[in-house]
Amino acid sequence: MTPDDIQHVTRSFARAFAAKRDIAQRFYDSLFARAPHLRAIFPEEMGLQQEKLNGTLATLVREMHRAPILGETLDALARRHVYYEALPEHLPLIGDALVDALVAETPGGLSRAEEAAWRAAFAWISGIMAPAMADEFERREAARSAGVAPTLPPGAIVRDRQRAARGS
Ligand code: HEM
Repeated sequence: MTPDDIQHVTRSFARAFAAKRDIAQRFYDSLFARAPHLRAIFPEEMGLQQEKLNGTLATLVREMHRAPILGETLDALARRHVYYEALPEHLPLIGDALVDALVAETPGGLSRAEEAAWRAAFAWISGIMAPAMADEFERREAARSAGVAPTLPPGAIVRDRQRAARGS
């Protein structure tokens, strides 16, 4: 991710922010159209989830120029996601759905350079999240093999639905 990419992402997000509700809605519609099986791991009522996604996107964009801080945020986000049944191979689906939503709903659309910058930013994000998820999977499996319940990462919300999906 280059300084130019950061500038393109920051500027286009400033335009997108006015349409953030439509973007979040379109993002999940696009994700579930691409991968209908993922609908079941999300809450039935998606309003709060959409707000959380918008909040996290805003933080990521705001801190994008401070890679070390963002790295910690993304590492923690990735570890929580292991307990939501998210897998590293889902990350490209999320990236595509996000770019789809931004292109469709950002006032004025995205220029080619802006779209490319979002893809570069998401590749960078995935490059941090995927290994953190893999590491957290290992930690969870090690705990299970030792016959103990894994300690959840701070902030992870584990619902009955997710417990049922994991069979625990
Ligand atoms: C850059 C990628 C992602 C971002 C920014 C993101 C953002 C978020 C945020 C902010 C939450 C709220 C809870 C929390 O912060 O722990 C959340 C929850 C969740 N995310 Fe993600 N997520 C990403 C990737 C994924 C992927 C790849 C999946 C799997 C397909 C996924 C599925 C979920 C699920 C199932 C929940 C829990 C919903 C609930 O039961 O409340 N996310 N995500």
